[in-house]
Amino acid sequence: MTDPIRLADYTPPPYVIDHVSLDFQLDFEQTEVDSRLRLRRHPDALPGRELLLHGEDLSLLAIAIDGQPLAPAQYAVSAEGLRLIDPPAEFELHTRVRIHPARNTRLEGLYQSSAFLLTQCEAEGFRRITYFLDRPDVMARFTVRLEADQQQFPVLLSNGDDVAQGTLANGRHFVQWQDPWPKPSYLFAIAAGALGHIEDYFRTRSGRDVRLRIYAEPRALPRSWFALDALKRSMRWDEARYGLEYDLDQFNIVATYDFNMGAMENKSLNIFNAKAIVADLERATDADLTYVEAVVAHEYFHNWTGNRVTCRDWFQLSLKEGLTVYRDQEFSADQGSRAVKRIDDVRLLRANQFPEDSGPFAHPVRPSEYVEINNFYTATVYEKGAEIVRLYERVLGREGFRRGMDLYFQRHDGQAVTTDDFRAAMADANGVDLSRFSRWYEQAGTPILTVTEQFDSERGVLTVQFSQETPGTLGQADKLPVPIPIPIALYRQDGLRLPLQQRDVGPPLAGAMLVLTEASQTLQFDGLQEKPVLSVLHDFSAPVALRHRQSVAELSVRLGFEQDPFCRFEAAQNLGEHLIQSVYAGQALDAVSGLAEIGRAFKALCADAGLDPAVLAECLNLPDEAYLSERMQAIDPSRLFHARQAVATWLGQQLEGALLQHYHREAQSAGGGFDAPSTAARRIRHRALALLIAGDATRHGALASELAVTARNMTERLAALSLLVHFGLADQEAALAQFYQQYEDDPLLLDKWLSVQASSPQPDALSRVRALLKHPAYTHRNPNKVRALIGTFGRLNRLHFHAADGSGYALYADALQAVDALNPQVAARLSAAFNGWRRFEPLRQEAMRRTLQRLLQAGLSKDSAEIVTKALE
Ligand code: PHE
Ligand code: ZN
Repeated sequence: MTDPIRLADYTPPPYVIDHVSLDFQLDFEQTEVDSRLRLRRHPDALPGRELLLHGEDLSLLAIAIDGQPLAPAQYAVSAEGLRLIDPPAEFELHTRVRIHPARNTRLEGLYQSSAFLLTQCEAEGFRRITYFLDRPDVMARFTVRLEADQQQFPVLLSNGDDVAQGTLANGRHFVQWQDPWPKPSYLFAIAAGALGHIEDYFRTRSGRDVRLRIYAEPRALPRSWFALDALKRSMRWDEARYGLEYDLDQFNIVATYDFNMGAMENKSLNIFNAKAIVADLERATDADLTYVEAVVAHEYFHNWTGNRVTCRDWFQLSLKEGLTVYRDQEFSADQGSRAVKRIDDVRLLRANQFPEDSGPFAHPVRPSEYVEINNFYTATVYEKGAEIVRLYERVLGREGFRRGMDLYFQRHDGQAVTTDDFRAAMADANGVDLSRFSRWYEQAGTPILTVTEQFDSERGVLTVQFSQETPGTLGQADKLPVPIPIPIALYRQDGLRLPLQQRDVGPPLAGAMLVLTEASQTLQFDGLQEKPVLSVLHDFSAPVALRHRQSVAELSVRLGFEQDPFCRFEAAQNLGEHLIQSVYAGQALDAVSGLAEIGRAFKALCADAGLDPAVLAECLNLPDEAYLSERMQAIDPSRLFHARQAVATWLGQQLEGALLQHYHREAQSAGGGFDAPSTAARRIRHRALALLIAGDATRHGALASELAVTARNMTERLAALSLLVHFGLADQEAALAQFYQQYEDDPLLLDKWLSVQASSPQPDALSRVRALLKHPAYTHRNPNKVRALIGTFGRLNRLHFHAADGSGYALYADALQAVDALNPQVAARLSAAFNGWRRFEPLRQEAMRRTLQRLLQAGLSKDSAEIVTKALE
């Protein structure tokens, strides 16, 4: 495999590029890119004999320095790029290259999406467009001229402001763009072709009017107003919360159905996967709308955290991503229910990031080496990175955090910096020492926080020991303790919250919160009449795996009375886990200890009128298989699925009356818009219906058929369809056929149609997926389709992906290989499905290992090879 790039080897760039001037002659088949770069030797660089400019898959047509064409001895072209021999200390480089957008199936660099061309440059796509120092610490001013046939390419967009345009001979036209802000090449973008747009304005708090546009295929535009509104709300929010204003006169978004990721924050020309823009109640679910709102905010927020202040090198990716995810999470929390947002985020972290952190691809939030940077756009860099930023807020308070942000921008606006610089700003603005937080960035693995309690009933003293340990990961055996903020509360058996009376043991608590800095620390509380119920880690205050053994009685008290909604959810998850693990271990459900008590606790919960129905819905949502698997060894996935299903059945039967009541009571609210009460109503109804059908499909299946017919929005329609398909109910075929017929022309809804089938636990799932691979609605060339069918099958269909006979692995691997030949980045993400192979029982382990070896032998892209090789190490 290729040698890794190491953080320790970082050196500043050999040259600075002050100005870039690009001229595109655009065409789907062949585009010519004419480039003029003003280069000057970096003040700290050692004079070198050669300068390598990155470039991949470019045909060089012309090259000159300061107007003089170069002789063959003055340069060399290789697979890596263009080597200039003995360049002057300061010069203008002129190159002209040819590229082939229509043949670009990797969707990096310049490529075609239906009737338009667009670019994707992060992380290293710019080098597929022209020769350049394609690294984030080279920030240049860009001028871009786009020229093309006017009929075929009526719209010509790039970063910054359009400063000139005109028509030319032969039906051609041009637009010239100028971006006043220096930027790294990964933020460069163009979009050109047949695009329509919708438009609105935003007045900034200093009175500047910004023109906002969303460009897309005309049929998608009527469904893009929600996204445009989310953009305005994001702009307002960033001013109010952080004093950050937009810095140009226009902000444009382009939506495409062909995109490797969610979206891209190119300066003033964001490019979005249509999935993250095109959404209204009629054709998108609440989860989709929530996603759109978050991604629009995320990309907009990057304008300050990522663009104005960018990353020194790609090891610092979390500097912009962790911080920007944290910012979009906070924005979303302020739009709807903060509690529900937190629960959703923790669920996601546990399902995606925890497995990454305990598997062969475990890496620190600031990695120290990589082979293919595209493989590091991970849940660890994004979501764990956001959790670390949240830790700063947790220990500094919201105002202290804001002081840190202010200092960060004051110090680093216009610079390319590191996660250490960010931490220094947080520390210096508050006069505190945060040096130990560097461990959170440097160490891979989820810290395990163990809490043990001892109660001395004679003296009325509770002793609590907190200890932490981060398990060893590949290449990082020994770990140091990390600072863990731990809010603490005590409850009486009847639910009354008790005051904390700390004894003189261990560090004094500030604001009922311990910041655990050592491997182990002990606290004592006194004045207690009876053993209290201990509750820690409110709001999931740190990204740790908590080991805190509590009895069913204690968990029931917490489920009933916790003031922190996350902790109630957590108590419900713990009770659910207890039941599932007992059944998995072979016990009959009836014989599981505390069963009756758990039933009573859940019934009481359902009757709690003060509880947000959306939080109730999440409490009734049993822990995911992915999360449960994290805490198990030698997993039998089929046994686990059935154990979880058995508990769902029991819960559905126990709570039948209450669930029916919630289902019917919320019927009217569920027909409402995208507001917190209406989305909460839909959440509880669909959770209730799922449990009712799990409890007794013959009695309650009809409710799903009825919902499929009466659905007033896509959330209802899709909930009904998934229940019909996943429980194999009588109307499933008709419902699938009808859905297809109704939405045949909508790529995003066809994605859903594929996903519902790919995630079905019914026995025919594998043959369905096999058939769908050949369906006209499916193609390996479109990343959304690949993720909807193959990705969903591998991630969510644990029953059939892990079929004991290996048929699931085989189908998946074949598809992966075919995708890899077209689009390595998308295939590499699919490869991660095998990463957990060592946690399974021996037969599956062996089948997965053989599949991985077969893939590697077949010859994979650099992207996929890195993942598969690591998995086998
Ligand atoms: N930087 C993008 C984001 O986080 C993600 C992205 C990475 C998109 C690489 C495309 C390619 O918003
Ligand atoms: Zn981002």
